[in-house]
Amino acid sequence: MPVSPARHLAFDVLTAVDEGGYAADLLHSTWARGLALPDRRLATEIVMGVLRFRAQLDYVIARAARRAVGRIDSVALAALRIGVYQLRFLSRVPASAAVHESVEMTKEHAPKLAGFVNAVLRHVSRDPIAALLAAEPDLKKRREVEFSHPAWLLERWGRNFGPEMAARIAEFDNDVPPVAIRFTTDAADAALPEEIVMAPGRLLRSALRVTSGDITKTEAYRAGRVWVQDEASQLVAHLLEPSSRHRILDACAAPGGKTALLAALAPEAGVVAVEVHPQRARLLRRRMPATVHVVGADATRPLPFRRGFDRILVDAPCTGTGTLARNPEIRWRLTPSDPVRLAALQMAILKATVQALEPGGRLVYSVCSIEPEEGPGVIAALLAANSQLGIVPAGRVLDALEAAGQLAEDHPPLTAITAGPYLRIPPGAAATDGFFAAVIERGR
Ligand SMILES: C[S@@+](CC[C@H](N)C(=O)[O-])C[C@H]1O[C@@H](n2cnc3c(N)ncnc32)[C@H](O)[C@@H]1O
Repeated sequence: MPVSPARHLAFDVLTAVDEGGYAADLLHSTWARGLALPDRRLATEIVMGVLRFRAQLDYVIARAARRAVGRIDSVALAALRIGVYQLRFLSRVPASAAVHESVEMTKEHAPKLAGFVNAVLRHVSRDPIAALLAAEPDLKKRREVEFSHPAWLLERWGRNFGPEMAARIAEFDNDVPPVAIRFTTDAADAALPEEIVMAPGRLLRSALRVTSGDITKTEAYRAGRVWVQDEASQLVAHLLEPSSRHRILDACAAPGGKTALLAALAPEAGVVAVEVHPQRARLLRRRMPATVHVVGADATRPLPFRRGFDRILVDAPCTGTGTLARNPEIRWRLTPSDPVRLAALQMAILKATVQALEPGGRLVYSVCSIEPEEGPGVIAALLAANSQLGIVPAGRVLDALEAAGQLAEDHPPLTAITAGPYLRIPPGAAATDGFFAAVIERGR
């Protein structure tokens, strides 16, 4: 029997992720074109599952293979992870199919290792991970495997947020994240098919959560009447309180989710969108409405504009530790020095962009990271170096959004999504990615 298209795609995507690709992008790329919907779904489930539970899979593989996974050839390891994930997590897949397909895939890419893969898969334990870990003497290793996150990241979160919250975040990261949308037209015009079931947003009245069905397969999505955008990400654009009388800059714009929302919230304002990567800037030009002017520029350098801006969004490049449910591969790529390294880049972008902020103007700085270095750390350094800048408490802006009827009716208490003067949403606290945001104002 030939290997199914779903496992083929899963193998190709996981191999490309090992070389630096992003699973979510690859699963929506031309590679998946022509696959039937059930095959795409299975491939997605396997790829995301393997990336989320990699530490658990590798633990059982190492036991069955009697060698560290670092000593296993990469083709064999990818086939083993796919096989073990199905054996341990997908009870609807017969064990014989899971083993057979991984062995066949290995035969295609590394025929000499097919026997090894077959032998390991037949020895893989199906005992619950807790039972396997009971005999594990290394406590760090035990936590790393139990939560399937690098030990250093769990330790860091334990120090910063306490062990309970660290565990809650890791558990949220290991689940399929909620899908949120917003309509670009009147909801009634979007005409969604019946199989798309939705629930109200948790943060914003204008947002909806898709609880069943694949919104990306609808005509409304293809025609741009629906944007898929995490609710916390939407809330960040609202924090800027943009209006049509403002001149607005989005300094780190691609792929453009927040830019498009800013343009929708302030339809008569000019929005300038800056992006440093030429290819991403090109993509942005194609996707943005006519009121958005896209400029390819490096926001760490003096910006090429003669006039200043009343509203600036800096949604800076970051570690992305708030998005590990959506981008599970990131956790295995990050290193302990990344938060500090990225904080330096974030600071450089802020230093240059505040120069373009008009007196009385506001800047929202945001990151989809939950690391303090990239949040309060950067803001403290910015304020220390710029005496004319001050903080507007995020709670005050949220109160104003509430008074304007923009927050969801049963949103979490503001104390759950703020920390001091900042917006701080831990992953999962509001069925969203984790985000940090600060509202900065320049004195007149
Ligand atoms: C977190 S993403 C922005 C996401 C976007 N705001 C959205 O909601 O869709 C950060 C973006 O900043 C861009 N970027 C990184 N360094 C930059 C720089 N020095 N100047 C301008 N853009 C930069 C990245 O290429 C990336 O597209």
